[in-house]
Amino acid sequence: MTIAANPLVRRYGTAAIEEAAQVIRSGGIVAIPTETVYGLAADAGDAAAVARIYAAKGRPSFNPLIVHVPDLAAAEALAVFDGDARALAEAFWPGPLTLVLPLRPGAPIASLVTAGLETIALRVPAHRAIRALLAATGRPLAAPSANRSNHLSPTRAAHVVASLGAAAGLVIDDGACTAGVESTIVHGRQVLRPGPIPADAIAAVLGAVEEARDGSRIVAPGQLAVHYAPVKPLRLNATERRADEWLIGFGDVAGHDTLSASGDLVEAAARLFDALHRADASNAAALAVAPVPDDGIGAAINDRLRRAAARS
Ligand code: TXA
Ligand code: MG
Repeated sequence: MTIAANPLVRRYGTAAIEEAAQVIRSGGIVAIPTETVYGLAADAGDAAAVARIYAAKGRPSFNPLIVHVPDLAAAEALAVFDGDARALAEAFWPGPLTLVLPLRPGAPIASLVTAGLETIALRVPAHRAIRALLAATGRPLAAPSANRSNHLSPTRAAHVVASLGAAAGLVIDDGACTAGVESTIVHGRQVLRPGPIPADAIAAVLGAVEEARDGSRIVAPGQLAVHYAPVKPLRLNATERRADEWLIGFGDVAGHDTLSASGDLVEAAARLFDALHRADASNAAALAVAPVPDDGIGAAINDRLRRAAARS
């Protein structure tokens, strides 16, 4: 089947963007081109929608996602900028630069987007298609690359369809991406991920760049130890609560809180980080979590829980 005849695919235009905006507003996901790669977008304030991104990608873990906004003012509503960050934004936005910044307290961003961190990765893209979707929805859009986990990043609509199939939801086709590699990610004066904007160009704005903290280039971003870990000890596969524990339930296992009473894994993913934060903040000395099946997005939930338990 040619791309034009695929029922998931719409050629970029006013009608396609309005349809995509409707999908986003109703909590769905849309594959949309940016100047770097095609992204799989959802409303960054809607935890269930963001969980659908992870489910579609088949990601084995929850890496924090990049949030796309229309301009610097929209970015400043979500994160705290210092002089360096503002200088980089003014030099390279709109464009393939992502800034990792302190999350503004109370910013309406689902905790699944930041993987529970107190920082957020923000980017103002230049591509007309995602810019039109940002304008039509008026929402910050979380979007990782629109491919299944461990597949190559998509630079054409056909790549998205080949990798995600029907899981992509709607695909907006606007031809090939110009940059073709994911955005340069900068945190403070460190380049966390090399990308279309070279480190030299970052250094020219900041005066200098520092080596990444672990002394190496991050070959596989997301493998960074940047995940939220609870302060308290965490017990996995708990089917009942011990006296000093705060139990996070799932399905038939009821707790102080539940990831999903009905056993819905997408709902559980959407609630995971909020539930961990709430448990950590409770009076209980220790945390426990009910067993979660390893199917689909459940694998990512369990990966995250194992890391949280290992670090506690
Ligand atoms: O070009 C791009 O950036 C594409 C297009 C769609 O915009 N998006 C993209 O997103 O590459 P993604 O989710 O595949 O990559 C996001 C990476 C994560 O793997 C992580 O390393 C980093 O951004 N990241 C996100 N939030 C972070 C945070 N708070 N701290 C450190 N790194 C973060
Ligand atoms: Mg990716």
